[in-house]
Amino acid sequence: MITALFSATDSNWDKFSGPLRDAFTAAGLSVDLTREASPDAVDYIIYAPNSRLQDFTPFTRLKAVLSLWAGVETAVNNPTLTVQFTRMVSDGLSEGMVEWCMGHVLRHHLGMDRDICRTDAVWDPVIPPLARDRPVSILGLGALGQAVAETLVALRFPVKGWSRSPKQIEGVQCLSGDDGLAEALRGAEIVVLLLPMTPQTENVLDAERLSLVARGAFIINPGRGPLIDDDALLAALDSGQIAHATLDVFRIEPLPEDHPFWSHPKVTVTPHIASDTRADTAAEVIAENIRRGEAGEPFLHLVDRQAGY
Ligand SMILES: NC(=O)c1ccc[n+]([C@@H]2O[C@H](COP(=O)([O-])OP(=O)(O)OC[C@H]3O[C@@H](n4cnc5c(N)ncnc54)[C@H](OP(=O)(O)O)[C@@H]3O)[C@@H](O)[C@H]2O)c1
Repeated sequence: MITALFSATDSNWDKFSGPLRDAFTAAGLSVDLTREASPDAVDYIIYAPNSRLQDFTPFTRLKAVLSLWAGVETAVNNPTLTVQFTRMVSDGLSEGMVEWCMGHVLRHHLGMDRDICRTDAVWDPVIPPLARDRPVSILGLGALGQAVAETLVALRFPVKGWSRSPKQIEGVQCLSGDDGLAEALRGAEIVVLLLPMTPQTENVLDAERLSLVARGAFIINPGRGPLIDDDALLAALDSGQIAHATLDVFRIEPLPEDHPFWSHPKVTVTPHIASDTRADTAAEVIAENIRRGEAGEPFLHLVDRQAGY
């Protein structure tokens, strides 16, 4: 019998325990899924990085920690987490992110606010450009950035993408390195941030980089708050360099009531809802990783501790 300790909130337990048990059965695994276990009996920890468990040293026979989250910046430097550590990549997470990004990209691309928010009874037809004439750049071409890029390409947006290592994605101009970042941003009319939070990505969108995009561009950030220099963004919004920012993630969450983003007319705040881990598809990934661990096969979606994601 394999012992898997579930370390996340009560509501997560309610959401995940059934689908996890079903996925273990479907994978032919005999797993004792539990919220309480003697540490020396635990084989795997299914883990939300905000859970109370932060000291892994008592878990002497632990084989892996399997994160329920895609973003692992709060756990990646935990010195007691020395076993294999995986992050969450799953269909549900990707589909949710694609849908949220498409909604916000199309809102800005089509200028939807003009008509949806109109109360002045003025008949003012403004025809939006076609997608093919609206360059979009995606910073981060991982599981989520790539899924978003491919969907934008299917809608015929010209798409540039930027990542740490060089990539090839059909229809996407893939760039990497510092020069690649400037090239990705230059002339972009919509920028979507899907980078992880690491020391290298903090403030990646600063005043200098914001000056490279097309005047009146839109910024969409479902990645992490510290990717953007907040003051530089506010200045760029006030100068008209950036027309609007749609932000889902922030340096401090919940976003403090007195933060200028809440009241800024050119900022849309959404409360970290761009995408969530969906229990059914995530449970399949967790079960597959436990199967791999038991079979001595390499785990899927291992965190690269040196890279920080
Ligand atoms: N708002 C939400 O609801 C929500 C939900 C889920 C996730 N997220 C955020 O989305 C992020 C991305 O998730 P993911 O699953 O797509 O992650 P991922 O698969 O690890 O992809 C990360 C991408 O960023 C690139 N990257 C990392 N460091 C870089 C650097 N220094 N310079 C250039 N590119 C760099 C990576 O390059 P390589 O391809 O070369 O490795 C990769 O393309 C998560 O880390 C999390 O912060 C937010």
